[in-house]
Amino acid sequence: MIANLSLIAAVLALAGTSSAATTTTTAATTTATPAPLLTLKPFNGTFAGDYPTTFEVAPTNTTLAKQWIAQYNTANITSLPVVPFTSGGDPKDPNSISADACDWTITNCINKDITVCPIGVWGLTYDDGPTEFSTQLYDYLDTTEQKATLFYIGSNVITNWEAARRACGAGHQIASHTWSHQPSTSLTNEQFIAEIKYTEMAIKEVCGFTPKYFRPPYGDIDNRIRSLLWAMGYTSVIWDYDTNDWQMAPGGTRTLAQVNADFATWEAAASNDTTGHITLEHELYQNTVTAAIDNLPKLAATWKLMPVSACMNDSHPYQETEYQLATMNGVVTGMSSATTSTNTTTSSNTTSTAAAGASGASSTGGKTSGAVAVTGEMKVFALVAAAAAAAAQMF
Ligand SMILES: *[C@@H]1O[C@H](CO)[C@@H](O)[C@H](O)[C@H]1NC(C)=O
Ligand SMILES: *[C@@H]1O[C@H](CO)[C@@H](O)[C@H](O)[C@H]1NC(C)=O
Ligand SMILES: *[C@@H]1O[C@H](CO)[C@@H](O)[C@H](O)[C@H]1NC(C)=O
Ligand SMILES: *[C@@H]1O[C@H](CO)[C@@H](O)[C@H](O)[C@H]1NC(C)=O
Ligand SMILES: *[C@@H]1O[C@H](CO)[C@@H](O)[C@H](O)[C@H]1NC(C)=O
Ligand SMILES: *[C@@H]1O[C@H](CO)[C@@H](O)[C@H](O)[C@H]1NC(C)=O
Ligand SMILES: *[C@@H]1O[C@H](CO)[C@@H](O)[C@H](O)[C@H]1NC(C)=O
Repeated sequence: MIANLSLIAAVLALAGTSSAATTTTTAATTTATPAPLLTLKPFNGTFAGDYPTTFEVAPTNTTLAKQWIAQYNTANITSLPVVPFTSGGDPKDPNSISADACDWTITNCINKDITVCPIGVWGLTYDDGPTEFSTQLYDYLDTTEQKATLFYIGSNVITNWEAARRACGAGHQIASHTWSHQPSTSLTNEQFIAEIKYTEMAIKEVCGFTPKYFRPPYGDIDNRIRSLLWAMGYTSVIWDYDTNDWQMAPGGTRTLAQVNADFATWEAAASNDTTGHITLEHELYQNTVTAAIDNLPKLAATWKLMPVSACMNDSHPYQETEYQLATMNGVVTGMSSATTSTNTTTSSNTTSTAAAGASGASSTGGKTSGAVAVTGEMKVFALVAAAAAAAAQMF
């Protein structure tokens, strides 16, 4: 009880600090950010593509959409009914969904979806960006050279392209979260293809690459949606720990203290872990960004933090193979100069930064120098390597 009270006091203190810090951060957005790890092609905010209305279901009758739909016409798409949803995001008739749909919303059924990282590793994911609050999160991540997976909404990439471009260059793993954030199983095959492809087009224009990882909005996925994703070259990522941080929306039902308490519970149980974890967090509201920043040092003291692609040891989370992100072993982040026409940072110049990037903050939560990071990493990497074979069988 005493511990709980002091936790609450600490939370209140942190909340106070954070809002003060917020003001400072906002005023200081023009401070120089670290040099990008990835050199991006020039982009000045003038989109060449013809995009549909933001936050409306992507249209299927445009010239582009028709081309994309025709492209996947012959793919092996699983036939299942479209699932009607209420406006609140729940299936209208859960009983109508057959077991062979392997619908995650209804039964938490998994079919080749990534849900956890190997033991000792925490996959950091932030959904729904980029937003007006993203800069605060990216500033903080830069101070510890921490990288995360960012599941971007295509509509937000159009609006907040500068934040997107910064995150792309920083070597965060950029992944897809659809064009307009509908429950995926409520969309027709054609609509889902258009939602994915318009998002790809936006990310490609801003950053020059195309994601290979996808998170379904609301976790809503079934075998039909999976078959479409596989045809388009995607792996889906769910989570095992849900912070429910989105409920801290202005006027929402959840408090920062409640979110922090969930993190504390997970940390307390870590010694019993049989897997690593992937959290669901959001870069959506001031409160969700505050919660993310408050908890990062504590998580870093317990787990090795990295993007999902890194915990899967995947150095190529983009379809364009010249872009490389760090893996579990801290393999380099950068672009291969052989396959790009733009000048890039060479691998050898980015090794130490990328190693720290893959592994996150040191156990003190402070900024890691290359040498310190490697020393600290060796122990965790041994743990990770031991668990890797077992973990691989799960996917
Ligand atoms: C931005 O870039 C586009 C394409 O490269 C170019 O046509 C346009 O003139 C540029 N606009 C500005 C304001 O620089
Ligand atoms: C596509 O359909 C919408 C809604 O039916 C319509 O308003 C729009 O004009 C159509 N666009 C094209 C390019 O046919
Ligand atoms: C089509 O997809 C289903 C489900 O993933 C799979 O079982 C089947 O082998 C696939 N068929 C072909 C021809 O690839
Ligand atoms: C670990 O599991 C054991 C057995 O269920 C339980 O007694 C113990 O409290 C757990 N430890 C933590 C830190 O949760
Ligand atoms: C690469 O850098 C060199 C030296 O700075 C410059 O001369 C050259 O034009 C650049 N190439 C490209 C493709 O930007
Ligand atoms: C990489 O680092 C080496 C040694 O510090 C330096 O000579 C070289 O110019 C650097 N290359 C780039 C592209 O920055
Ligand atoms: C990660 O991949 C690298 C090669 O890119 C390999 O050397 C290393 O053993 C892999 N690590 C694990 C834990 O699988």
